[in-house]
Amino acid sequence: MKQLHEFEIKKMIKLATDAREKSYSPYSKFRVGACLKTTSGAYYLGCNIENAAFSPSCCAERTAMLKAVYEGERDFEAIAIISDSLNYVAPCGVCRQVLAEFCNPNMPVICADCEGNYEVYELRALIPMAFTSDDMGAHNKQ
Ligand code: THU
Repeated sequence: MKQLHEFEIKKMIKLATDAREKSYSPYSKFRVGACLKTTSGAYYLGCNIENAAFSPSCCAERTAMLKAVYEGERDFEAIAIISDSLNYVAPCGVCRQVLAEFCNPNMPVICADCEGNYEVYELRALIPMAFTSDDMGAHNKQ
């Protein structure tokens, strides 16, 4: 896994904490913030944005990721996630799949609790055998 300095991890958790303030979560009342860092050093922040119809709700990780991709970013260094929970928050399955589309399997995923304690996981540990464009190789040759 790519090593990150503790200083950098703490900075990303702080930015994710700021992003959590923007959470629109009237249904779950579970606020989440994410901070995605590009290899060029830019930070993209996201929060969860819920919907009365529930299904269209978007997690903090995907908000950050989609903002970054729209801006033309394709190379990512790490992501940090924080909620209001005393438990570490880890990306949901859908977000893991979206991260797998754009991020290297060795990218660090920083999962923080509301007190700022954290665990770091490699993306590949969170989504082993992710379905990616590589799996469509034969299809693409047709
Ligand atoms: N949520 C996230 O934003 N990220 C996660 O990693 C887990 C779940 C959001 C989705 C929903 O708005 C709320 O948390 C409760 O599931």
